[in-house]
Amino acid sequence: MSNVLVIVYSYTGTSRRVAELLCSQQNWPLASITEVQPRAGGLGSLRCVIDSLLRRRPAIRYDGPPPTDFDAVVLVSPIWLLQLASPMRAFVARQRGRLPDVAVLSVMGGQGAPNAAAEIARILDRAPILSSSVTMREVDDGSCAARLQAFGTAVRDAEASHDVVRPVTLSPQSS
Ligand SMILES: Cc1cc2nc3c(=O)[nH]c(=O)nc-3n(C[C@H](O)[C@H](O)[C@H](O)COP(=O)(O)O)c2cc1C
Repeated sequence: MSNVLVIVYSYTGTSRRVAELLCSQQNWPLASITEVQPRAGGLGSLRCVIDSLLRRRPAIRYDGPPPTDFDAVVLVSPIWLLQLASPMRAFVARQRGRLPDVAVLSVMGGQGAPNAAAEIARILDRAPILSSSVTMREVDDGSCAARLQAFGTAVRDAEASHDVVRPVTLSPQSS
């Protein structure tokens, strides 16, 4: 059975709720990214904007087990200015060579998730095994639960399919 770690960065708490729900549905452990310099009040939001415009990688702390101990990680992060939130950008860049298979779950008002998945693919030089998104509204009214369940199952299925010998590997034409 595959071994999956959920890693979350959350500024205002919504992504954390999503990550906690996914973990409770799938019985997966949760790890957190926090910032060395927390964002508080209006200035914090302004920093979000500036960091996004400049694609900054702020100083972060990681609190969790080594990602290398897992078959896959699910990265849960908000979207800022149509992009990956900068603390998650910093984490992906820092752990670039140490991340196993990566699935991406973006949490947003409504737009920008494809850009976040594309940026993670660029940093890692490989595509996420899966990417999806939920909106803040779907989190608030609870309607994201079924999609999260389906996302978790899809991650499990994608990892399980690694365990079987793929037909192409056995084909004489592939040798
Ligand atoms: C600075 C900033 C920029 C944002 N830009 C976007 C955006 O471009 N697209 C979007 O759909 N949501 C945007 N949002 C909304 C957040 O993605 C959304 O509120 C998300 O649920 C926040 O997650 P969190 O509570 O885990 O921090 C932005 C929020 C902030 C603070």
